[in-house]
Amino acid sequence: MRSVLEILSASDYVSGESIGAELGISRAAVWKKISALRSDGWEIASAGKRGYRLLAGDRLEPELWTHSLNTNSLGRGENRYLFTTDSTNAEAKRMAAAGAPHGSLCLCETQTHGRGRRGRSWHSPEGRGLWLTLLLRPELAPQDAPLLTFCSALAMRRAVLSTTGLAAAVKWPNDLILNQKKICGILLELAADPDKIEYVVIGTGLNVRRGAYPPELSSSAASLEVFLYNNSLPLRRDILCAYLTHMEELIGAVSARGLAAIREEYVRASCTLGREVLVSGAVQITGTAEDIDGSGALLVRDADGRIHRLLAGDVSVRGVMGCE
Ligand code: BTN
Repeated sequence: MRSVLEILSASDYVSGESIGAELGISRAAVWKKISALRSDGWEIASAGKRGYRLLAGDRLEPELWTHSLNTNSLGRGENRYLFTTDSTNAEAKRMAAAGAPHGSLCLCETQTHGRGRRGRSWHSPEGRGLWLTLLLRPELAPQDAPLLTFCSALAMRRAVLSTTGLAAAVKWPNDLILNQKKICGILLELAADPDKIEYVVIGTGLNVRRGAYPPELSSSAASLEVFLYNNSLPLRRDILCAYLTHMEELIGAVSARGLAAIREEYVRASCTLGREVLVSGAVQITGTAEDIDGSGALLVRDADGRIHRLLAGDVSVRGVMGCE
């Protein structure tokens, strides 16, 4: 069954009566749902018998933002906007299989099976975040693909900074953290031969509007809006355009010069390097995160002075996101 937001998104004016008929609820109940959406910040006009209309407000349809985009390739291929999809990464892979070009983008209002790293799911409530995946066909060696997740983290960090003034930290490899809470996660999936990338899909989820989180996330995740106090929340499409611009620049830099091109910015933004970390993956290691190497691996020195090179794994940093 469609939600009220979905019905409004798909129409011009739509009467309370027909919304009620579709959802099997009274006109008064429709009015209550419209009021709840308005107090969540959605701009909804009402015009007597014609009913309700969702104004451009915080909408993401490509026709509302491609004209203000100043990129060459990102957001210039196939742009697929869906109200609901299983996962924008899964959809972007289907687009890749059908031949969509480098720079194509999939974004949506809600995901039914949003994917996180390490097989986790990603909470993707309707209208409350930027849930997007870029399809790239980059000129990079497969072992350098992880650098693209650094690019995405830095691009989203810059976009958040320029649209809200909030400076997030990067937790290795690519989570964005504000006030000890995760606001953004990135999932890269790769299709490659041993020496050539066929494509990568790089999915980025940014929690934007406030709302309840499931109990297992409530102590570790948060949305941008809660850190903005009296400042207004930017439009998601403005964050998106800033992200795409920065992402294009960073991918260009990394393709030409590798990690060296972004290393200084990454190190400055990092809340992992120089800190005590606990790495839980195939093996558990505690130690000091000393550095990252050229392909983005984390170098951790344990109590015996041995250096461990970590390619993946969940890193908890003391004092960040509930790790004591
Ligand atoms: C993580 O931190 O575990 C990674 C989360 C990645 C979430 C994004 S939301 C858009 C894209 N589609 C998905 O299914 N996952 C990514």
